[in-house]
Amino acid sequence: MKARILEALRGSGGCCSGQKLSLSLGTSRASVSKHIQALRSDGYLIESSPRGYRLISSPDLLLPYEFPGWEHRIHYFPEIDSTMDAARELAKQGAGEGTLVVAESQRHGRGRLGREWLSPRGGIYLTVILRPRISPVYAPRANLMAAVAVATTIRRLYGIEADLKWPNDVLIAGAKVCGILAEMHAERDTVSFVNIGIGINANTSISEFEGTATSLKDVLGREICRRQLLASLLTQIDRQHSLLMEEDLMDEWRSLSATLNKDVRIMVPGDAIVGRAIDIDAAGALIIKAQDGSLRKAVVGDCIHLTARSTTPK
Ligand code: BTN
Repeated sequence: MKARILEALRGSGGCCSGQKLSLSLGTSRASVSKHIQALRSDGYLIESSPRGYRLISSPDLLLPYEFPGWEHRIHYFPEIDSTMDAARELAKQGAGEGTLVVAESQRHGRGRLGREWLSPRGGIYLTVILRPRISPVYAPRANLMAAVAVATTIRRLYGIEADLKWPNDVLIAGAKVCGILAEMHAERDTVSFVNIGIGINANTSISEFEGTATSLKDVLGREICRRQLLASLLTQIDRQHSLLMEEDLMDEWRSLSATLNKDVRIMVPGDAIVGRAIDIDAAGALIIKAQDGSLRKAVVGDCIHLTARSTTPK
């Protein structure tokens, strides 16, 4: 009901009388008034006058009812330790494909390779539960899928050339704007669930991060509407998800990749591979032509893009 009231208020462009709202929503005026009160306590500024209700402003929150069609799949937390932990519990309890955990901030956000993911308010933190009927070998494709979805969303909404660094960072002009973390559970050689965690530096400020990070706010010089970004991202994830085992997904990743055809150093556990990144395989591994001309594959690891003056083979 809150979603429908908001839609009616936003659609009216001005004032909407309680009577009109109750008629169009098929509910009593008392119920309209109760939901208006509830919206106000969620942070919506709704003015009421003898002419009716007027929406003055909406809070910058990712409240589930702001995402019609997804609201029943969203588990929303103003603050949480990590959306990954909540999603893992939900998945173990049988939560269905497409279940989402969304948080405004995280106390112990987790990054790849055991790192911390700083998660102040203003960012977007979510984990989506996927249940593809695939071999665990192909689970990394879910990461690639999410990375393609994020980069495509940023490109379409803001016209910024977001691209991808293997395995699954989204970059803007070489700086990281989004990180992706996957956790998989498999039974009898089939994926039972793969949870994809996505952290986007949206309205956070670059000074809140170390190193080579950026945020959409810093790039655009203004705050973005996080609701619009998340709604578009969810649409993209739904679309890309249907391509999970298709070659089209790999082609989209290749076309967005900032890593392919670059000289790279891949830090793999106990080793480093240096060479030219030439492709990814069907399981999402990076194929590198090493300095001695041999072909190497990296399944996990940290990727560093080397400068053009690198002495690796062409
Ligand atoms: C990386 O190291 O690049 C991956 C970062 C992933 C961060 C996201 S934020 C939402 C989800 N919850 C977490 O604790 N981590 C992931």
